[in-house]
Amino acid sequence: EAIEKGGFEHFMLKEIYEQPKVIADAVRGRMSASEGWIKLGGVSEYINRINQAKRFIITACGTSYHAGLLGEYLIEELARVPVEVEYASEFRYRNPIITENDVVLAISQSGETADTLAAIEIAKERQALIYGICNVIGSSIPRATHAGSYTHAGPEIGVASTKAFSTQVVILTLMALQIAQHKGSISTSYLRQVLYELQNIPEKIKLTLKLDAQIQEIASRFKDATNFLYLGRGVNFPVAMEGALKLKEISYIHAEGYPAAEMKHGPIALIDEQMPVVVLATNESAHDKIVSNIQEVKARKGKVIAVVNEGDVEIKALADYTIEIPATEEILSPLLTVVPLQLLSYHIALMRGTNVDQPRNLAKSVTVE
Ligand code: G6P
Repeated sequence: EAIEKGGFEHFMLKEIYEQPKVIADAVRGRMSASEGWIKLGGVSEYINRINQAKRFIITACGTSYHAGLLGEYLIEELARVPVEVEYASEFRYRNPIITENDVVLAISQSGETADTLAAIEIAKERQALIYGICNVIGSSIPRATHAGSYTHAGPEIGVASTKAFSTQVVILTLMALQIAQHKGSISTSYLRQVLYELQNIPEKIKLTLKLDAQIQEIASRFKDATNFLYLGRGVNFPVAMEGALKLKEISYIHAEGYPAAEMKHGPIALIDEQMPVVVLATNESAHDKIVSNIQEVKARKGKVIAVVNEGDVEIKALADYTIEIPATEEILSPLLTVVPLQLLSYHIALMRGTNVDQPRNLAKSVTVE
């Protein structure tokens, strides 16, 4: 087992550090920034049907559901098709309206989640095109779908999903771009710009991983907190939910991920000097709004840990702690902002002495209802 962990103390840490490599693996042979093309085999094969789809429905559980929420932003923003995202366990039991004009995207690391499989069966009966985004090759979900793309993240052992999430987001990005290119809903120059940035993401994750010691220090400051709030806007809202889930899963601290602007409709009542608030603040398009969200937290004496783009002096002056990560194309920023949150939960869990790789009550793959 020590050998399998490749010198890391836990599988989770190893898997966090593998993200630059697995992202490079996930895009290999599927795109060229210089030539301006993307080709996911499954999308190419069904391109006409996908192109004509009136709607995408994304269904998944757990961390894969959070990747799905990002998929909604990506597909709507780039390909201009309406997207709904559903917990598979809710979707399957509510007699959903699905037609042959829908594409159902099922996202699953293991490819074995019972609720996701059941959702696929319902969608199939109703004639939708079913597309899988899975990690485990030959697992049940890829076998039950019409088409799909593997994430190529390699085996993920830690119960808390990390590298599988990143590669799911990469596939969703490629998919949204490929459909958008086919539809002509984005320009060639924008496409190239995003693909170049996507190519640079592994390098930028490596730089982000260098912040590990700083994040460890932040972890030691907040390891005894009983609650955490995670805030994000736009593409960083699903990342806030994912960050909160990571913390709950392995450190057993209660945490909530919230859209930053919704804070005033409830969570703000929880804020006092004991409350750490992690704010994902890399969105250039909403920078002023995020600044005012941070001011609202500070006015109530909350402790702000902000994840910002390098050189953001304005937020640095306001926040208690800032984690400065490399800037990137806004739609790709979740691939970077999620990394410090994974590390923060890892270090807090380690300091609290929990079983990081096998947290209590959780299973890697939930094959029963
Ligand atoms: C379990 C795991 C999570 C995972 C979820 C969905 O709850 O502990 O890490 O996100 O199942 O699993 P899937 O394999 O379908 O992505």
